[in-house]
This record gives sequence, C-alpha cells and structure tokens, in this order.
Amino acid sequence: MAVSRPVIVAGNWKMNSTPESAGSLATEIAAATEVSGVTRVLCPPFVCLVNVRDALVGTNVEVGAQNVHWEAAGAYTGEVSAGMLAGLATWAIIGHSERRRDQGEDDVQIGRKLVRCIEAGLRPILCVGEQLPEREVGRAEATVQGQLEETIAEVARLGAVLPNDLVIAYEPVWAIGTGRTARGSDAAAMAQHVRSTLAAAGISAERVPILYGGSVTSAAIDEFLAEPDIDGALVGGASLKVDEMAGIVARAGLTAAARQAA
Ligand code: PGA
Repeated sequence: MAVSRPVIVAGNWKMNSTPESAGSLATEIAAATEVSGVTRVLCPPFVCLVNVRDALVGTNVEVGAQNVHWEAAGAYTGEVSAGMLAGLATWAIIGHSERRRDQGEDDVQIGRKLVRCIEAGLRPILCVGEQLPEREVGRAEATVQGQLEETIAEVARLGAVLPNDLVIAYEPVWAIGTGRTARGSDAAAMAQHVRSTLAAAGISAERVPILYGGSVTSAAIDEFLAEPDIDGALVGGASLKVDEMAGIVARAGLTAAARQAA
C-alpha cells in the first residue's frame, strides 16, 4: 500500500557552507522544520559533518554524506570511504548527477558504492535521472531503467542484497539547479517506472521511498507531494535557506498526516 511509505526531505548542501557556518545553519533548519511524520536529513560537505552532527544532537534530524568511495580503504587520494563515516553520518547520497557528470561515475561504480553503504550501515539515497535530450526523444524511462538495472546487477555480482531501507531520488538532470522543474505527473510516471524496474529485480518496490529532486522550492514542492507515488524531495539550493526548508517540510508534513489518516 503506497500510504505506508515514509515522507522524507533531504537537503543536499553540495559544496556550500564551512565548518564554521554549518552548525548554526543546521540548528536553524532543525528548529524551523519540526513537523511530525517527516524524516529530515541534512547532507553537508564532508568537512562539515562533525559540526552538523553536533548541532543536531537532541533534534531528530539525521545526517548524510554526499558521496562515498567504492572501495573500503586504500590508495585513493582525496577520497572518503563509507566506513570512515561511522559516527558522523547515517545516510549517504549515491550517484548524484553532478558526480556522474564531473567525476565520470558510472552505474557499475555506483553499484559498488551501494555495497559499501550496505556494509557500513549507511542508508543510501540512490540518484537516477535522464538528460534533457533523452527526455525529448522519449527515452527518459529507458535511461533511468538502464541506470537502475546496471547498478542492481553490480550489487548482485558482488553478492550483496539491496537494503530494505533503500531510497531512490529521481532527479531529471535538466531540472537540477536550473529553476525548471519536471511536471508532477511526469515525476509520478517515472516513480511508477522505477518501482516496476525494482520489482522486476525482485525488490519490494512498494516499500521503497522515491523522492523527486531538481529545483525544488517551497513554491514548487506541492505538485510533487500531491502525487501518491512521490514520497518526498531531495533539495539542493533551497536546502541552504531556512525559510525554504521550513516551507518544504511543512508541505511534506501535510502529506505525512494524510497518509497516516488514510
Ligand atoms: P537543486 O539540486 O534543488 O539545486 O536543483 C537538487 C539536487 O541536485 O539534489
């Protein structure tokens, strides 16, 4: 039953904030978003994790990393492994399109990263999404399906099982940081396609929360959370603004309350 899924708002701060500023931003966001029924996660840069963790003690806002490496340890200068995040973060964003674009991450590497998250007990938010030309030629669903299938195949090849608490973020690449959102109905159609792809791989897809991401703001969130197939948002730019997060989480709270009442 769709209504049993949690409602999640995750903020991806990307390469913004400093160890000096991150704690107070996290504190302010936590105080402004105390809404029952919504799981809140903040994902600051690695160097700010300890500050954000400390600032969030006593709130129930959770902490996530923006990436992990696909190996557990070794000669990978500048990288951070999933195991190193113990005590700092309980979530990790995996396969963000900016990393696919700038670091050339592919679905095999992303599958390995998922396995590292599983081993380390990190809850993964796996990002998928199509480029604009792929949507324009009608290949958006095939693209996302391919990303999921290759990632899942790598997880299986390594003998791992996808975790029960997997979260998927559908983020059309052309909507990220552009101020141009997808339509709620398109995002919902994609969420259904994601669930059928997961189900075909033997995953209990009805239990997997699917977030929308891409230029989410307090003004734009409504049409996504009005869709029963969408379970929250992965928020970039707006997650650095306290008022925006307050508005987004407040709207998410309405969905959470409606689901609890159903
Ligand atoms: P945006 O980023 O909200 O700034 O578009 C979303 C994301 O990249 O997760």
